[in-house]
Amino acid sequence: MTVGIDAMEIHAGKLRLDLAETFAPAMDEDPGKYTKGLGLHASSFPDVHEDIVTMGANAAHRLMERKGLEPDDIGRIDVATESAFDNSKPVSTYIAGCLEAVYEGDFHHANKGERKFACISGTQSLDDAYNWIRAGRNRGRAALVIATDTALYARGDAGEATQGAGAVAMLISEDPDLVALSQEQGFGSADETDFLKPNQQFPSVDGKRSVQVYLARMREALEDYESVAGRVYSEEFRYVPFHTPFPGMVRKAALLGYRHMTRGTAIEDDLEPAIGRQPLPDEFDDESGYRDAVREYMDALKETEQYGEWYDNAIEPTLDIARHVGNWYTGSVHVARLSALRRAREDGIDATGERLLVGSYGSGAQAEIHTETVQEEWETELAALSIDDQLEARRDISFEEYEEIHDAHNHAKDDEFDALTTPSGEFVRDGQGPMNERT
Ligand code: CAA
Repeated sequence: MTVGIDAMEIHAGKLRLDLAETFAPAMDEDPGKYTKGLGLHASSFPDVHEDIVTMGANAAHRLMERKGLEPDDIGRIDVATESAFDNSKPVSTYIAGCLEAVYEGDFHHANKGERKFACISGTQSLDDAYNWIRAGRNRGRAALVIATDTALYARGDAGEATQGAGAVAMLISEDPDLVALSQEQGFGSADETDFLKPNQQFPSVDGKRSVQVYLARMREALEDYESVAGRVYSEEFRYVPFHTPFPGMVRKAALLGYRHMTRGTAIEDDLEPAIGRQPLPDEFDDESGYRDAVREYMDALKETEQYGEWYDNAIEPTLDIARHVGNWYTGSVHVARLSALRRAREDGIDATGERLLVGSYGSGAQAEIHTETVQEEWETELAALSIDDQLEARRDISFEEYEEIHDAHNHAKDDEFDALTTPSGEFVRDGQGPMNERT
C-alpha cells in the first residue's frame, strides 16, 4: 500500500520584517550576521488578526477547496503546534469549527487531536496519519495534518532574528499525488532542556546548546535509520530537506549528513586530500571543541567540488522559502520539502521517482529520519500553489511597527494595536485575547 502526502498548502503570516534593512540597524548588528551567518533575509510575522487557529484554518481551507473536499472526506484532523493556548481543548477543534462555518457538512465523525513535541510534532502527526491509513482504520477517508506556529521569541533574545509565523496543511492519503512515505524510520531521542516553554509565551532557550543537541540527535537518527533500512548514500537522494530553524543550522546538518553518507565510499577517497579522514567529534559539546572542528571541516569541505555540487543540488533548493519566512517550527521541515520541489519545477527537473531523505527535529529532543519518493502528479500539485503570491503580498513593517505588533501578540494586549492588513475571504481573529472568536 502506498501512503503519503497527497497535497499541501501554506498560509504565511501577512507581515514581513526585513532583517538586513530593518532589524540589523535597530540591533546595531552587521546585516551579514543575519543574511550570511544565519542565512535569513526576512521573517513572516502575524498581523493582530492572525494566530495559530486562523493560519491553520486558512491553509486547510485552501487545501480543501483546491482538492474539492468536503468534511465527510476527512476522517482525522491532527494539529501540530508549540504555540498552543489551551491545555485541554486541542487546536484542531478550533480549526474544525472555523471550517464548519463555511462547509455544509461537519467533522463530527473525525478524530481530532493536538500533537506536541516541539518542531518534530508536524512529522509525528504525519506518521500518525500514515499508521492510521496503513492499519486500515480510516474507512476510505484521508487525514488532514496541520502544522501551525507563531515562532516568536522575547525581545532581545538571540532567537529573535529567527522568528516566523505560518501554517502548513497536508492531506495524507492512499495513492498520494505528491510524495510516498517510507515505512522505515530512524530516531535519536534524549531528555534535553535547551528549549522550554513551561506555561510561558516565549521560550527559554540556550541557543548554542540547542545547535549541539540538534546535531547529536540527527546523527543518532541517521544511524538508527540505517540499522533498519541499510546504508544511505548521498547520491541516492535528489533532495535532503532538514528541519530549518535558520539556514545556517542546515549548513551544519548537511555537513554532518554528507560526512555520514559518504564514509567508506569512493567520494571519501576523493575528499581525503582536502579533509583527511577525521570523523566529526563524537560529542557536540563545548568541551569537545566541536564548533571549531565543524568550522574547519566545513571550510575544507566547502572548497571541494564534490561537496559544493552536492550542497547546491540537494540542500540549497530546500532553503529558498525559509530564507524569506524564518522559522515556522512544526511546519519548517515541510516548507523545506515544498521549497525543494518548487525549485525542481522552476528548473524543469523531472522529479518523478526521485527520493528525498527527510530530517525532522524537535527540541527536548528528538530527531527523525525517513525517506520519501516523489509521485507522478507532483508537478500539478506544485503548479497549483500560491506560495509566491502570498510571500509577495506581505506588508513590510518598520521596526516601530514590529515592536508594537510583538507586544500585541504578547498575551491579551492585542486591543492596543490596529491591524495593518485587511484580508478578504479568510479566517481572522475577531475580538481580544487568545480565546476570542474567529470569523
Ligand atoms: N557576517 C557573516 N557571518 C556572521 C557575521 C557577519 N557579520 N556575524 C556573525 N556571523 C555568523 C557567526 O559566525 C555564526 O556562524 P557559525 O554558527 O557558523 O559560527 C552565525 O553568524 C550566528 O552568529 P552567532 O552564533 O554569534 O549568533 P547568536 O549567538 O546571536 O545566535 C543562535 C545564534 C544562538 C542559534 C540564535 O539564533 C538562537 O538562539 N536561535 C534560536 C534557537 C535555535 O534556532 N536553535 C537551533 C537548533 S534547535 C531547533 O532547531 C528547534 C527550533 O526550531 C528552535
